[in-house]
Amino acid sequence: MAQAQLGSTLTRSDMIERIYTPVKSDLLKVQASLLEIVTPETELLVKTIHHSLQNNGKLMRPLLTLLASGACGEIGTSHIETAAVAELIHVATLLHDDVLDDADIRRGRPTVRVEWGNRVSILSGDYLLAQASLKLSRLNQCRLVSIFAQVLANLCEGEVEQIRTSYDIETTWDSYYKKSICKTAALYAACCESAGVINRLPEERIEDLRLFGEKFGIAFQIIDDLLDYTSSSERLGKPVLDDMKNGLLNAPILLALESFAPGSAELDRLVSRIEAIFHAEDNSEHQRAVQDELFDLLETADALEKTMALARRFTDEARAHIDFLEDSPYKASLHYLTDYVCQRDY
Ligand code: FPP
Ligand code: MG
Repeated sequence: MAQAQLGSTLTRSDMIERIYTPVKSDLLKVQASLLEIVTPETELLVKTIHHSLQNNGKLMRPLLTLLASGACGEIGTSHIETAAVAELIHVATLLHDDVLDDADIRRGRPTVRVEWGNRVSILSGDYLLAQASLKLSRLNQCRLVSIFAQVLANLCEGEVEQIRTSYDIETTWDSYYKKSICKTAALYAACCESAGVINRLPEERIEDLRLFGEKFGIAFQIIDDLLDYTSSSERLGKPVLDDMKNGLLNAPILLALESFAPGSAELDRLVSRIEAIFHAEDNSEHQRAVQDELFDLLETADALEKTMALARRFTDEARAHIDFLEDSPYKASLHYLTDYVCQRDY
């Protein structure tokens, strides 16, 4: 894709470069720390863990941990290791998530479950969680253990909430936010909170950092929802309209549903198209026509623009929580990151 011009002057790749620059060398240390864990006796685990870790991910959680750490103090070994823990937890959840979602492709490559089966995928995720716990325990900071244990509980709650409400046209915003905070934002919040804890900030500043991460995470999820409609499967490395086909009412759909008056013909049409996609069993011409009609209704409702505006509301709120930080390249990158999260195309 041609480089889009973002904001006033920066191209997307300029922006990415600026975001990563202050912590480039620290991120290399995180990557080394991640690879250190791959010493299992079992050859198959070596393969699955390598497959999962070396997949050109954006390392968003380590990035946020390191930027928040640098912005509120120093970046030492504890921060690097905590950043690695966050990535290990994230990758573990994906190994489980791909089983729950029957996903064949992740980041453009076959999933571990396709290559080696569901049981191996789940156990590889468990192995990563165990390694994350070991790393955390070595930092000798109980509070960090409790922060990340809470995240694991949140992740499970978020997934269960998603299962509970899937294929339910009555899904509410309360449920949407609960699910999004638990399954996406809680881990980002923990990354930022840990930075403040390790750097021994006052409690109210730690809470500000936590809220920065949480709001950032909600915006991240909202944009993820948007990309399900606007990106291509090549860029996403997974199919488009995937959420809907899995029975999820994500942000653009919730916004479209509330745009039309109760009892209106548009609302009836929208509901019937959503249900047709929920229960589609094929990719026939008829299905493609249903999808086109859905896109037309989203356009009539201005749903994609409203989704972007909603994400921006959360990034604005996120930024307000880091006003207290002194100016630094790290803080500037956190600001760029909140811009980038709304501009990303995968
Ligand atoms: C991706 O969601 C999934 C998550 C962010 C969280 C998954 C959490 C679990 C499976 C719960 C428990 C797991 C552990 C290890 C505690 P998505 O399907 O919306 O995104 P995708 O399109 O990237 O698959
Ligand atoms: Mg999934």
